[in-house]
Amino acid sequence: MLSVMRADVARVEDRLREEVRVDFPFVGEILQGLIEAGGKRLRPLLLLLAARPFNYVFERLLPAAVGVELLHTASLIHDDTVDKAMLRRGRPTLNSLFNTETVILLGDYIFARSAMMAAATQNPRVVQVFASSLAHICDGQLREIFTARELQQSIDDYRKRIFGKTASLFAGSAEMGAILGEANDEQIDALRRFGGHLGMAFQIVDDVLDLRESTDQIGKPAGLDLRQGTITLPTMLFFQLNRGNGRHAELVRRVVGGHDATDEDYATATAVIRESGALEHALEIAAEYVRNAKEELRAIPAGEGRDMLEVLADHSLSRTS
Ligand code: IPE
Ligand code: IPE
Ligand code: MG
Ligand code: MG
Repeated sequence: MLSVMRADVARVEDRLREEVRVDFPFVGEILQGLIEAGGKRLRPLLLLLAARPFNYVFERLLPAAVGVELLHTASLIHDDTVDKAMLRRGRPTLNSLFNTETVILLGDYIFARSAMMAAATQNPRVVQVFASSLAHICDGQLREIFTARELQQSIDDYRKRIFGKTASLFAGSAEMGAILGEANDEQIDALRRFGGHLGMAFQIVDDVLDLRESTDQIGKPAGLDLRQGTITLPTMLFFQLNRGNGRHAELVRRVVGGHDATDEDYATATAVIRESGALEHALEIAAEYVRNAKEELRAIPAGEGRDMLEVLADHSLSRTS
């Protein structure tokens, strides 16, 4: 269904490769490697699709589509540095190969290139959405750092945090696509909300995959959230399900607290969360976001573009990597 978009996404990828060209040997190759290792390219796809039901002019969309993927790439570079993660898209991360100073500057460089792409749209409204998405990403990532190992936080705190770090860029991508496609204001707002709900579902699924899948399957270190004390929705639901009582809850609390936890403790904590039904419950909440996302599509003219947006929404729920 989404195959009609393949050629345009490929053109986005060609441009991406050009944009991350740096002159330093080795560093340059590693950066190219990160881009070539794939990634699902969901944000540019969403941006393109949001314009599809309207005035779809690929050349006008291209810089913004490249811009959102670059923004995402830069945020991954910084995220992996903060998380001290060694693997991304099945390859060693930049921070596993270079010192922190170098990696932060490389991330900044990619952020700057992404801003240049946003500016290249010559559309001030797009630049504004772009800058606001970046501010939200930083806000979400900072919230994650400041709430790490904090057991008192609520599900609302979690929602705020993941809106910032992930859903804001989905919302922004859809909004930019709709703006550049010359949709009307009501449609632009609907697509922004569509992207936001989709992004929430996407991050909840990511948090489930972290606990359910293997490192090989997701191409990044599985189980990292517990290790770094990031309390995600499945863990919150786990505590709710057993009212925070009992031996299992005690173990998960200790593991999240990071005190003297052994590899075996992490494995057991993961197993008890998996067996509690919390992952299924989290996926139901993600499904609700997808339903809300699809509701927003009523404001969009029926047709192939709208159908593809719906397929994209469903896919974010059923994905396994
Ligand atoms: C990873 O995003 C970061 C999150 C928001 C969970 P993706 O899962 O879209 O990463 P790639 O681009 O496909 O590697
Ligand atoms: C980070 O979320 C999302 C970003 C904005 C970079 P995660 O920390 O869950 O992303 P992964 O699991 O490392 O891809
Ligand atoms: Mg991470
Ligand atoms: Mg994750």
